[in-house]
Parts: sequence; C-alpha cells; structure tokens
Amino acid sequence: MEFTNVPAIVTGGASGLGEASVRTLAAKGCKVAILDLNEDAGRRVAEDVNGLYLHCDVSSADSVEAAFAASREVHGACGIAVNCAGIAPAKKILDRDGKPMPLDAFSQVINVNLIGSFNVLRVAAADMASREANSDGERGAVIMTASIAAYEGQIGQAAYSASKGGVVAMTLQSARELARQGIRVNTIAPGIFMTPMMAAMPQEVQDSLAATLPFPQRLGDPKEFGLMVQQMVENPVLNGEVVRLDCALRMAPR
Ligand SMILES: NC(=O)c1ccc[n+]([C@@H]2O[C@H](COP(=O)([O-])OP(=O)(O)OC[C@H]3O[C@@H](n4cnc5c(N)ncnc54)[C@H](O)[C@@H]3O)[C@@H](O)[C@H]2O)c1
Repeated sequence: MEFTNVPAIVTGGASGLGEASVRTLAAKGCKVAILDLNEDAGRRVAEDVNGLYLHCDVSSADSVEAAFAASREVHGACGIAVNCAGIAPAKKILDRDGKPMPLDAFSQVINVNLIGSFNVLRVAAADMASREANSDGERGAVIMTASIAAYEGQIGQAAYSASKGGVVAMTLQSARELARQGIRVNTIAPGIFMTPMMAAMPQEVQDSLAATLPFPQRLGDPKEFGLMVQQMVENPVLNGEVVRLDCALRMAPR
C-alpha cells in the first residue's frame, strides 16, 4: 500500500515503538494522528512530524470512536492503523504469601492490550472500508503489536502473555474476515527493544538482557520496529502474519 498523503493512526505514538512508527510513516509521506494518553509527549511528537495529537484511551469504545472521527475530520478516513498502546505490569498468580493475584490486575492488562487492540481494529476497519480501493483492491493495512511473551511468557507475565496471545490469535482471523474489504492485518511480536521503559533500567540489567540475545547481541532500536511497520504497509502480499522481531531470542522462564 502507498504512503503519500494516506491518513495513518498510531496508538501509543507518544513513546517508544509507537513514536518510531509515527516518525517512519510521517517520513514516508503519511498524514499521522497520534492516539495516546500521554498528552505532553504526544503533542511533542505530533509537532515534530506536523501531525495530530488526540487524547485517547484505547480501552474505551467512545474514546477510540471520537479520536478516529476527529482524525477523519482533519486527515480523511484512516488507511493505515498501527496499534502500539500497551502496558506491561508484572504480577505473579500467587504472591509470596500464597495470596492469589487480584482479578482486576489481570483484567486491566487484557482491557488495554487485547480489548484495546480489537477496539482500534474494529473502528479502523470501518474507516478503511469507506476508502477507495487501489489498483490491487487494497483499502487499508492494520498492524498490531504483540510480544514474544505471547509464546514464551515469563514468570509474572500471566496477564501480559494472555493479552498478547490474544492479539496473535486475532491476526489471521481478522485478516480472513477483512479480506472482503481489501484490508490486510499483520502483527509484530517484538523481543526486547530500547524504549524509554528499558532505557530507565540500570546498565547492568540492560547488559544482562542483551547477553541473552543470540544475534545481534543488543536491544532492538525502535527504528527497526518502524522498518517492519513500513514493510507491513508496503508489501501487498504480507497478510495474516505474525513476525517475531527478536534477534532469535527465546525467553527463559525468568
Ligand atoms: N519495548 C519492548 O521491548 C517491547 C517488547 C515486546 C512488546 N512490546 C509492546 O510494544 C508496545 C509499545 O511498547 P513500548 O516499549 O514502546 O512502550 P512505551 O511505554 O514506551 O509506550 C507505550 C505508549 O502507550 C501509551 N498507552 C498506554 N496505555 C494506553 C491507553 N489505555 N490508551 C492509549 N495509550 C496508552 C502510553 O502512554 C505510551 O505512550 C506495547 O504494546 C508493548 O507491550 C514492547
């Protein structure tokens, strides 16, 4: 799918992998809207790329519908949607005293990472279906973000793994269902990337994480995530696929 003047929406675009996606898409000529809870950072990134910041909670139906409508008003119906908003709090199923994890802690992660991804997918699909198809019959491309924790969840990642496993499972299903409208759906499953969350960790923790990576033995650069977003938009036959972007890492139990 083409980039020039195509309206793109990036959730979680105020930081990390989402921000890198915003910058990649803007550099390729898209009109980008950032949907994020973080207003200060969102406005800063939007200003840099001459884009739009829209305050949005991906887990709320009303909030996502309103943000898409606001973006449509300024940029036109969305042709590219990248889902990067996510949270990753760790909590064990049983704590040290044998007390079970509060159910709310599980639900919160599912609400943002899984329900939020579907929420954006469903509203993006409606927007994309209204667009004129290109010569290949294509109207839109959706990119979701899972994690390698969908496959090798570590101790403390019950909710996170389940949420990302749901995103993985939804990928082929939604690509099949939206084929009729000419909408492709792909997912990136990142390993370990140097985002603000990681950069805040002590150097020795970063080094020990990097040492577990087969090759290259360094954390991924968010720009490399942006490169995969670009390929998923550009390559018309890439559809219904989950791509691990992980330096061949297979996570250990802890
Ligand atoms: N960084 C990594 O190594 C890594 C690895 C695997 C998967 N991921 C996934 O990639 C995605 C991006 O991660 P990141 O490292 O860039 O994180 P990040 O914390 O730097 O960025 C996440 C962004 O999402 C926003 N956000 C959170 N909840 C939201 C909500 N309810 N509505 C709207 N926006 C919300 C935050 O404000 C933030 O700007 C997440 O889904 C994460 O699970 C990251």
